[in-house]
This record gives sequence, structure tokens and C-alpha cells, in this order.
Amino acid sequence: MSDQTLSNLSREERRFDPPAGLAADANVKEEAYARADSDREAFWAEAADRLDWGQKWDQVLDWSNPPFAKWFVGGTLNASVNCVDRHVDAGNGDKVALHWIGEPEDDTRDITYSDLKDLVSKAANALTDLGVTKGDRVAIYMPMIPEVVVAMLACARLGAPHTVVFGGFSADALASRLADCDAKVVITSDGGYRRGSASALKPAVDEAVEKTGDLVRHVLVVRRTGQDVAWDDSRDVWWHDAVDGASADHEAEMHDSEHPLFVMYTSGSTGKPKGILHTTGGYLTGTSFTHWEVFDLKPETDVYWCTADVGWVTGHSYMVYGPLANGATQVMYEGTPEKGRWWQIIQDLKVTIFYTAPTAIRTFMKQGREIPDGYDLTSLRLLGSVGEPINPEAYIWYREVIGGERCPIVDTWWQTETGQILISPLPGVTAGKPGSAMKALPGVAIDVVNDEAQSVGNGNGGYLVIREPWPAMLRTLWGDDQRFKDTYWSRWEGLYFAGDGAKLDEDGDIWLLGRVDDVMNVSGHRLSTTEIESALVSHPKVAEAAVVGAADETTGQAVCAFVILRESAGDGGPDIVEELRKHVQKEIGAIAKPRQIMVVPELPKTRSGKIMRRLLKDVAEHREVGDVTTLADSTVMDLIKDKEGSAA
Ligand code: WTA
Repeated sequence: MSDQTLSNLSREERRFDPPAGLAADANVKEEAYARADSDREAFWAEAADRLDWGQKWDQVLDWSNPPFAKWFVGGTLNASVNCVDRHVDAGNGDKVALHWIGEPEDDTRDITYSDLKDLVSKAANALTDLGVTKGDRVAIYMPMIPEVVVAMLACARLGAPHTVVFGGFSADALASRLADCDAKVVITSDGGYRRGSASALKPAVDEAVEKTGDLVRHVLVVRRTGQDVAWDDSRDVWWHDAVDGASADHEAEMHDSEHPLFVMYTSGSTGKPKGILHTTGGYLTGTSFTHWEVFDLKPETDVYWCTADVGWVTGHSYMVYGPLANGATQVMYEGTPEKGRWWQIIQDLKVTIFYTAPTAIRTFMKQGREIPDGYDLTSLRLLGSVGEPINPEAYIWYREVIGGERCPIVDTWWQTETGQILISPLPGVTAGKPGSAMKALPGVAIDVVNDEAQSVGNGNGGYLVIREPWPAMLRTLWGDDQRFKDTYWSRWEGLYFAGDGAKLDEDGDIWLLGRVDDVMNVSGHRLSTTEIESALVSHPKVAEAAVVGAADETTGQAVCAFVILRESAGDGGPDIVEELRKHVQKEIGAIAKPRQIMVVPELPKTRSGKIMRRLLKDVAEHREVGDVTTLADSTVMDLIKDKEGSAA
């Protein structure tokens, strides 16, 4: 974001007060900030008390060996019991947990908490029969069908950490994740529905399993589309054979509060994805409490819908663990946002709380308000946004067109690493400003600092950091404590560095400015420039590659690549650009496919050999190229711009 846009943003004068009714009846009121400030640990202990524990903790936080935190030390609990059994035991077994909507019209399932308990227990028994025991890792590579939730909760029940890999990732990406966390079992489906047709998933699993030698013992396959699949009798097991007939009784063991719950891989600023480790007690406390707090959830009456795919952290924290621990009734939709389908779902199921990403909102804005205007959206009472900064235009459109000017918007900032929302308005307290995520939630210590780690103070910009541990924080990177320290805790002593730039306005409210490292944000998905560069360079025709995230009206940022071909490749042939785009798709997945690839003779480098991505970004965003004086060869940019001219 340029300084110009930034100063425009900070002059935003519109304020939206919480609706009076919501404010009066809000789950969390203003006093929470002061209460949390006076005793942070007591505040989080109270949040943890909302869960069912086997054994209560002896110590709220052990921070004696930073940055390795332990929360609710000595406590035991089971995440699956908290998300399922306890609601059944409380007499809410008949309550709908999931209104599942398939992509094909009329393909729907309502799953109550009792149903869910039976399904999860059966799946836990089936996984046990396949040899899964506490501590084993299980990979999940599935579409948005109820079985993915069942699979996650069954793993949690057994204490077998799951790693959900987004179904849009390639076989190679899946293989590297399987290998990194030593997954013993993969749960998948034959395929899923996307944009009206069945697309296969199992072949990618077969390829990934092949690549990882004899690591994976079993592949458990849900039949979703009925398409033909290759089958290996010694390894593959149909879900309906293994799970349907299994016993619906499963005695859940209580796990240590710090027992690993899941590993979620995310892009970092180097090529290798990082396995973010979340554990049980703190994660479940942080996600369930903030879900109740930020969305003001009233479990008896609300119908909640988070549109995120379960392959991302939002799907984990605010579709599976947070809402289910709170006993919410929610919508789960298999498809992608097609025209009026979302609004139809909101109308039909009378959704009251809706949580989505700015990129989706901008897409709908482009299609025009006539589409949502054709539906009755008056059931909505609260809207949420996540994944990237929401620009004021999108905020206002969301508020007016979807929220009918009644619904507060909670712009929630957090990360795979933070596990839970850390910055957000409180819907019953905060007067929202379009474009600002406002303040740290009660119990969370956020700051904006300069290069010397000093607070910048109101009216200034800098780096977003976190000063105190929080319950759902990542505990480490899977198998790599050193990288965990280096990545997040080494820049400044005792501060967690989030990788985002931010500004405090005159009121002290926070404006997120996007990443300051080599991570791009495309449609709210994190992609690493280095990872895509390595993918490009792994192509035999490519000598060197540089990737930048260029501003894009719909997706926030778009992947733009500059490549130098090997001499042996000549001019690469007429289809070189398409060939390279496909190659990236194969290596990482369709979301990483560059929007634009330019074949160039040289890349702009400093004298020390560092690629100056800033200049490439100028080209990709069609701007006047900035200062080139630090380039080793200042004529390089002319060569690149010539290329651009001839390509345009
Ligand atoms: C960005 C997604 C501005 C930010 C939950 C962060 C945001 C990265 C917001 C994490 C927001 C997320 N406003 N930026 N409300 N929410 N981000 O790990 O750059 O996929 O560091 O987690 O998304 O992305 P991740």
C-alpha cells in the first residue's frame, strides 16, 4: 500500500456505532479490557473455564522458557469431547451442528450434535483399527464435506495430530507435507464438486504416497463423486467400509493441555512451508472464547456461517473448533461463491452471522448489487471479514448491500500462527471505522514498533508485534524449534514479529498495511515469493526467477513472475508462458499460478546480488520505475521495460 493510500485511509471519518440492542445484550462488554489488563492470566483462565476439563490445570501460563509457552499446565481435556459429546450430554443432541449444503443443488445434509457424536466415535474406532494411535500424524486432503469435520474431530479424539492439506494443492505439495510430518494415514475422497463438475482428488494422493516411499500405511477414502479411482487393496480402504459399520461407542481419553492438536502448513518467506504446531488446551480456549466474543454468538438462536475452506486456518479455528466447542449451529458449503448461491443459502437458512474474506466481497461488488438485492438477507445481524485488509469501499458495500446498514462488521486480524483472532472490533462496544481492524482484543498485547523495537505511538507506522503470550499461539514449527525462534522471535528480544506492517491512527486504532516480508496475500491466501521462485527455477528451461505480488483489484495481490531462460532453451518456444504457469500449478497448486510471467534478459540486482523486487513491482503495477541508483547495472530496467512494452 502506498503512503498516499495510507494517509487517505487514516483520514477516513466515518464511524459506525454498535446497534443499541446488540450493545445491551453483548457477550463481552467494555469492562473486559480493563479486567484483562489488570490480570491477563486470570482473564484467560476464566475463558478456559468455559471448556470441560478432565483434570483442571495447576498453572495458567508457564513462560519460563520463552518463546516456548505452555498454557493451562497440568490440565487435561479432549477437544473432540468439548466440540461434540458435551453438547449431547447437556441435552442439545438434537440441535443441528452442521447444515451442510453440497455444490449440486438439493444435495444437503443436516447433522445434529448426536449424529456428529456417532460419526466421530465411529471414525475414531475405524482409525484405531487402521493402527492409528495417540501421537501418530494423519493427513487430511478433502473437499468441504461433513466427513472432513468428522475426520478432524476423530483424530483430535485419539490425540493423533491432523494436518489438513488444502484440496487445491498439488500432489507435490501434499507429498512434501506428508514427508515433513511423517503422516501414517491419509484421509481423502475420490473427488469433489467444483463449479458444477466432479474433480478428482485421489490421484494426487496416490502420486504423493508413491513419492514418499513406504511412509503412508493406509489411505481412507470417502466416496463423494462416485468417479473411478485406482485402488491398491493393501493400502486403500473405503470410508463406508471402515467407518459405517464401526461401533458408535468410543471412550475418549483426556489429553494433556499441551498435547499436539494439529499441524497446519503455511508459506513463509523462504521456500519450505512451515508446519505451524497448535496444541490442545490453549488453542481451544483461544478459539472458542474469541468466537463467542467477536461474533457475539448466541448458540440458542444464531445460525453462523464461515465461508472459509477447512484447508486453511480460518476453517480450523472458526468453522471447526471454535464454533463446535461453543455448540453453534452452522452452515457448511461445498462450493465456491457462484453468483447468487451464497445469498440464497443465507435466505433459506436464515443465517445470522456471516464471516468471509474481502476478496469475495470485491468479486461480488464487481458483479453488481442486483444479485444480492434479489434475496432476503434480513436475518443477518453481524458480518465478519478476515484474511487481508478490507478497503473502505468494500467495507461500505458489505455494510450497505449485505448488512442492510444494520449489521456491525468485525474486521478480524490474525494468522495461522496466532491460531485465534487478536485484533478486532468488539461488536457491542466498538464504533467501527471502515478499513481499520481497530484494537487488540482484551487480554492481547499488540504494539506497533520501529526498527529499534520502540513503540511508534499514535499517528505513526511501523511493524506489528505481540508483547505477551496468548493461549492459541503456535508452540513451535513442527520438528524445527530453531526455525521457530529465528522466524518469529529473533528480530527483537522478547517480541513476536508478525511479518505485517501497521499504523496507529490518532485515536490509537490499528490499520494493517500488509506483509513486510516476502509473503504475498492472494485472495486471502498466503503464498511465498521464494516458494514460487523455486518452483519456476525447477523447470528445465528456467535459469533464474523473481516473483512479486502486484496489486490486483479483486484478489488483493496477484502473482507476477519475471524469468530468465537458460541459453539452451533459446526463446523458450511460443508456449513458454503457459508452460511455466502450468509448471507452477503442478508444483504448488492452481492458487500459485502466476497471473503474469515476463521472460526477461536480466533481473535488477544490487551490487551484493540481491534482487530488487521493489523495481519489479513497479513494472508489474505499471508505475514509473523507482530509484535505480543502487543497481549494479542501471540499464537492466530499460531492458525489462522494453520487454514489457513489446508484450503489451
Ligand atoms: C493477513 C489468516 C489485514 C496478514 C487468518 C496476516 C490481515 C496474514 C487480516 C495471515 C485482516 C489476516 N486485515 N490483514 N483482518 N487478517 N491478514 O496465516 O498479513 O492465512 O499476516 O491467516 O493475513 O494469513 P493466514
